[in-house]
Amino acid sequence: MAGADLRPGVGAPGRARIDQRTLRVDRWWVQPTLTVVGLVAWLAYATVRAASQVNYWVADYHYLTPFASPCLSTSCAPGSSHFGTPFGDFPPLVPYAILTLPFLLLFRLTCYYYRKAYYRSFWLSPPACAVAEPHGRYTGETRFPLLGQNLHRYFFYAAVLISLINTYDALVAFHGKDGGFGFGLGNVILLANVVLLWAYTLSCHSCRSIIGGRLNHFSRHPVRYRLWGQVSRLNRHHMGLAWTTLASLVVTDAYIALVASGSLSDLRFIN
Ligand code: FES
Repeated sequence: MAGADLRPGVGAPGRARIDQRTLRVDRWWVQPTLTVVGLVAWLAYATVRAASQVNYWVADYHYLTPFASPCLSTSCAPGSSHFGTPFGDFPPLVPYAILTLPFLLLFRLTCYYYRKAYYRSFWLSPPACAVAEPHGRYTGETRFPLLGQNLHRYFFYAAVLISLINTYDALVAFHGKDGGFGFGLGNVILLANVVLLWAYTLSCHSCRSIIGGRLNHFSRHPVRYRLWGQVSRLNRHHMGLAWTTLASLVVTDAYIALVASGSLSDLRFIN
């Protein structure tokens, strides 16, 4: 790349000189604006909830919010630490799920879809097709820190482990008030959230490449070919799943917070 002309997009050598920033007359700015609003709102909610250390566990039904899972501190409410308490008491504002939240954040931050979303909406690079970006240079993902985007595949492995933890949480939540089996609206919400999280995780582009990549002949690997086909079908919905899972995480957490705080009674079908 040494000495290469790094002027981006419409400023690149050989491109026609057009004075206007764009010739588009539609409302191209709506999508990047909605993306900023949606992501900022979600991050604000998640930060407050993860740091609040309150109303994250419903002891009667064993509902644990994904924002506090796994709860690994001795400060966690009795019964909510499904995987032990390797950490001592946490000071205020430190998320109980401190071990997993950074990996989940990095998984989403390096996700191919979210990259497109925030490159366009936050960095305006470019904000939309056929709209010139304001930057004077373009180095892509060839340097630090964006070089780190290539670690996505490793965050995918971490996300699979965390999805297993979320699945376990959803299963132990089939708990009745007096012990034994119980089933309520909270279980439906927790289960739907876990199914969506798996769908998002397995629809990952890295997952698709891990399953079907580096093969010269699909015909010699029928099982991987079949799995690759299924992941590819899911992959088409990756963007939709990226947003749906943000919503399902908020719904799950908010429902548990309302029940845990006593503002809402869980609708029980059994016990
Ligand atoms: Fe989006 Fe991997 S590409 S999670």
